[in-house]
Amino acid sequence: MAGLHHQLTMLWQTGAKRCSFSFFTRFLWSSCSRNNQVTEKRGIFGKKYIPRRAVLYVPGDDERKLKKVPTLNVDCAVLDCEDGVALSKKEEARKTIRHMLDQVEFGRTECVVRMNSVDSGLASDDMKEVFKAGRLPPTIMFPKVESVDHVEWISEELFKHLRTRTLVDKINLIIYIESAKSLLDLRTICQRAVDLSEKGLFILDGVVFGSDDFCADIGATRTLQAKEVLLARQNIVLVAKSLKIQAVDLVYIDYKDLKGLKEQSLEGAQMGFTGKQVIHPSQIPIVQEAFAPSTDKIEWAKELIKEFKEHQMSGMGAFEFRGAMIDKPLLLQAQNIVQLAEVLEL
Ligand code: COA
Ligand code: MG
Repeated sequence: MAGLHHQLTMLWQTGAKRCSFSFFTRFLWSSCSRNNQVTEKRGIFGKKYIPRRAVLYVPGDDERKLKKVPTLNVDCAVLDCEDGVALSKKEEARKTIRHMLDQVEFGRTECVVRMNSVDSGLASDDMKEVFKAGRLPPTIMFPKVESVDHVEWISEELFKHLRTRTLVDKINLIIYIESAKSLLDLRTICQRAVDLSEKGLFILDGVVFGSDDFCADIGATRTLQAKEVLLARQNIVLVAKSLKIQAVDLVYIDYKDLKGLKEQSLEGAQMGFTGKQVIHPSQIPIVQEAFAPSTDKIEWAKELIKEFKEHQMSGMGAFEFRGAMIDKPLLLQAQNIVQLAEVLEL
């Protein structure tokens, strides 16, 4: 009972900061799960948007770092079972994460858990332990998703481990693309996840680009300019946006170079990514600022929308605004900016 209370509190807190976001709005999921454990709780406005501008990795076995999360003002913290944790510490990480989920008040930060990959043979044990927490994570991440089979396995495992739980909401699933094969099959993999989520316990909410594993897979050398992964990044944005889900950009591993981080963050935001992975607290404010519209941009967008309406009334589809030609596509971009600002309460 206490566990359910915690879970409801956490989901309520998460829900309170969510709001409708039109360019990510998805169709409502209406059906209950096959064993009726999931209760429909979505409102008439459709899928709620959870901002994940900075996505911070915190090694699951590092209690000191985990306890720091509520002080960091980060949108999303990833309690990691995978690569941030040594093989000899996997069991310790699972148990620590489980206890942290119940004991730590994470405030405005969404706490997600990254499991080990399906092929590692560790993921079932990760889920078994993490899902013992009274307060379930609202979102789970799965690295190195390579095929439709992996998505089907995740779906079945979720039923296996959560069958005795009563969920008030589906669990968000975010998958990682980290190889040439998975990039080429990305649309098919994601579509299978979307189809399975209709009757499953999860909903596909995003794709993350695992650039370092990707470079290892294709034999590329990572550079600061990241030209070697440009095609992959663009593909990930395209597929994610075609399904109205989030796209999270690569990590900037040289974490003391904040100037380079800012440039790459702005580039990622301009490309259409919704957020970026970070590994150190000093990266958080830079990334969150880059993925939020500036005050000037919000003012520009609001004014443009106003003028667009006025020109429509007078029968003009295209017009001049602050020295540039404006027509419908610019209106849509301006609406995206205003809606993002509203979600972020700017
Ligand atoms: N999450 C939470 N707190 C963090 C943190 C993180 N990812 N990284 C650093 N901190 C904390 C440190 O604990 C330290 O706090 P303290 O002074 O109270 O102890 C403070 O921020 C400053 O840290 P700093 O001393 O500069 O770094 P570090 O040497 O402790 O750690 C890393 C450097 C890179 C090892 C660390 O940032 C880290 O583990 N990052 C995540 C790496 C990871 O998960 N990689 C896999 C996914 S790509
Ligand atoms: Mg990886």
